[in-house]
Amino acid sequence: MITAENLAKSFGDRVLWQGLDLTVEAGQTVALVGASGSGKTTLLNCLGLLDRPSGGRILYEGADLTRLGSGGRRRFRRDRLGYLFQDYALIENATVRTNLDVARRRGARPGHAAALERVGLAGREGEVVHRLSGGERQRVALARLLVKRPSLVLADEPTGALDADNAAMVVEVLRQLGREGCAVVVATHNDGVRAACDRAFDVGTGREAAPSGPASPP
Ligand SMILES: Nc1ncnc2c1ncn2[C@@H]1O[C@H](COP(=O)(O)OP(=O)(O)OP(=O)(O)O)[C@@H](O)[C@H]1O
Ligand SMILES: [Mg+2]
Repeated sequence: MITAENLAKSFGDRVLWQGLDLTVEAGQTVALVGASGSGKTTLLNCLGLLDRPSGGRILYEGADLTRLGSGGRRRFRRDRLGYLFQDYALIENATVRTNLDVARRRGARPGHAAALERVGLAGREGEVVHRLSGGERQRVALARLLVKRPSLVLADEPTGALDADNAAMVVEVLRQLGREGCAVVVATHNDGVRAACDRAFDVGTGREAAPSGPASPP
């Protein structure tokens, strides 16, 4: 469903990757692995249309995303994409409810209560985000994905700042989204997160990597 084809990215003289080919099907979870600085975040940003590759194409359901104008890019992000970041990327001064509202697509039903219950935050709609703990904030970000139901989820080290229980919740919800037909791409240094994904792709080598790491929860 999303394919990076012969993708290249350079910053000045520095070549991050060339000839990178990666396809993620609907319903698959893929871990992006590789050394710090290999370009995992940059690849997520290219797939999410926050950055432009230096060469190659990104095909989404057959259409070349790299050729979209600003309106098309905005619509793709609004209608298709869900992002999950290490630092949560929530509206800090707003309530949980408002943060979930921004994920709603036009005409979509809210479903706040079910999403909050799924992430263990039932009844917390009225709380202001900056009063929540880090793990709770990431669970609000997860609930926002559950409300939005994107077809492509890009997650950048979403468990990086979390304890084991909260990290396990993040992984479980990402896997659930995958089971429901979403394509999920997760940049991670965590062996447990990697092992929980269907595949691993090494951004440093541009190849599939073994889904190694301990079988225990992250
Ligand atoms: N806007 C930019 N301008 C110049 N160089 C950049 C820019 N963004 C990223 N880089 C460089 O590209 C390289 C890859 O960065 P990126 O953040 O994608 O790596 P990463 O694999 O996500 O690393 P980490 O595992 O530490 O998160 C780094 O050397 C970084 O300094
Ligand atoms: Mg990164």
